[in-house]
Amino acid sequence: MEATFGLILSSIVVAASLTWAAKLLNTFWLRPRKIEKLLREQGLGGNPYRLIVGDMTDFMKSINEEQPKSIEISDAHMPHVLAYEHRIISTYGGGNCFYWLGPWARLVVTDPELIKEIVRRFDVFVRPFPELTRTLVGGGLLSAEGEEWVKRRKIVDHAFHVDKLKDMAPRIVLSCSLMIQKLKAAAATSCELDVWPFIEDLTGDVISRAAFGSSYEQGTRVFELIRQRVDLTMPLLQFFYLPGYKYLPTKSNRKVKAISSEMKTILRGVIHMREKAMERGEDVPKDDLLGILMENSKNGGLMSIEDVIEECELFYLAGSKTVAGLLVWTLVMLCAYPEWQTQAREEVNRVFGNSEPALQGLHHLKIVTMILQEVLRLYPTNAVIYRCSSEEVKVGNVTIPAGVHLSLLIGLIQTDPKIWGDDVNKFNPERFAQGVAKATNNQPVFTPFSSGPRMCIGHNFAMIEAKLAIATLLQHFSFQLSPSYKHAPFALYKLRPQYGAPLILRPLH
Ligand code: HEM
Repeated sequence: MEATFGLILSSIVVAASLTWAAKLLNTFWLRPRKIEKLLREQGLGGNPYRLIVGDMTDFMKSINEEQPKSIEISDAHMPHVLAYEHRIISTYGGGNCFYWLGPWARLVVTDPELIKEIVRRFDVFVRPFPELTRTLVGGGLLSAEGEEWVKRRKIVDHAFHVDKLKDMAPRIVLSCSLMIQKLKAAAATSCELDVWPFIEDLTGDVISRAAFGSSYEQGTRVFELIRQRVDLTMPLLQFFYLPGYKYLPTKSNRKVKAISSEMKTILRGVIHMREKAMERGEDVPKDDLLGILMENSKNGGLMSIEDVIEECELFYLAGSKTVAGLLVWTLVMLCAYPEWQTQAREEVNRVFGNSEPALQGLHHLKIVTMILQEVLRLYPTNAVIYRCSSEEVKVGNVTIPAGVHLSLLIGLIQTDPKIWGDDVNKFNPERFAQGVAKATNNQPVFTPFSSGPRMCIGHNFAMIEAKLAIATLLQHFSFQLSPSYKHAPFALYKLRPQYGAPLILRPLH
């Protein structure tokens, strides 16, 4: 009896080990080799697959080498920001070539029409590594797919409707005037200031007030946790491509889990407080993002409270780091090209005089809009959009096997001299004087918010916030680059100035 039991047990162990070994062989050798063959047969160039690590060692080395560097403002900065992709493209003579994220082929795409088609086919091209996204950003829209995404997008779209944004605008104005007070207090001591932390506080305050009806100070711990999580991006990036890595009890994995759990507890508390206030019949905001989402979770509605928590977590990050990037690069460009600073200030004074900027006047800000568009062209916060094919699919004349990752290099397209002319690296908002369609010749070559069904849901919100913030700043200060400013854009999660943005601020009144 015992012998039979032992035999059965060892057979199970042998069978399980064989299955496991077959899976490993397939993941790390057979599958990558098959995909490589399929890609090469179509004439696509790329690095040969190297067992298990693929290009990861070289990829990380290139990030570590490039990241500390600073460059000239007039330099082409995408070869620095997207160093590894740039190297692959240069090696294989143009777009549509590939390298390896461990055992995963990553196709680099620089053809605008192909990118348009890929982002349109959201049913086939999904966001890659949803687990990593959930770990680093929280769940919600960004990592949802299929029916679940359709349901969530519909609800969240409603929260970003123009009517709702109208109600949120006064809260953005309030955040802007609080920032001006802080800047004035700091500039009274020294006119040279690193404005980056002020900008980060502003965008944090805006999303706290507009989304959750609370202030940045109340959300301080959330933003501290977000900062810690962003800092973990690099350690996690090195290994996340290994299947099962997330289950290993590494220091980074443990830390990121602890952050996630604390974040959810805080957000649950925020929601709980709002529920209690509603039960007591208090006058709580119903038109902020939280109010709208909670409305959809009431009485067994379309969203559960856990779904609401996930979306809130995502808004905190997606809604703050992105706009902060847009604002800080705008200030840097207005310093580097002071003639545009003068023109923008004159326009703001014409439209608002000495009054606080308000939503109603924003459509008169033509020059400010052109400036923001030019900044988004040169410094798109998401210089790359990532996708993964969930099944074999043909786009253009390329057949993409299932499980291929794609880097859609919008940052490179937006700085391609063949499209934008020889002065492509020059900050020249004039390009957008006749609108985006004219500037792009109706080509899909300017997509800082992406395009298609999964386009940025917060793009109107972001543009309203950016216009209000820049208009307020121009009314109160003139700006100049400090001699200590180092131009070092780098995409650590989002495109940001690595050494901050020390500027010389002069109060105007
Ligand atoms: C300058 C500011 C911003 C830029 C440049 C930007 C850019 C983008 C881009 C390129 C995407 C598409 C990514 C992809 O397809 O993989 C995206 C998606 C998204 N963005 Fe933004 N964003 C900005 C501001 C915001 C704000 C203010 C919010 C919210 C308050 C927000 C929330 C989101 C969400 C939830 C998604 C996912 C949409 C979906 O998958 O359905 N973004 N953003």
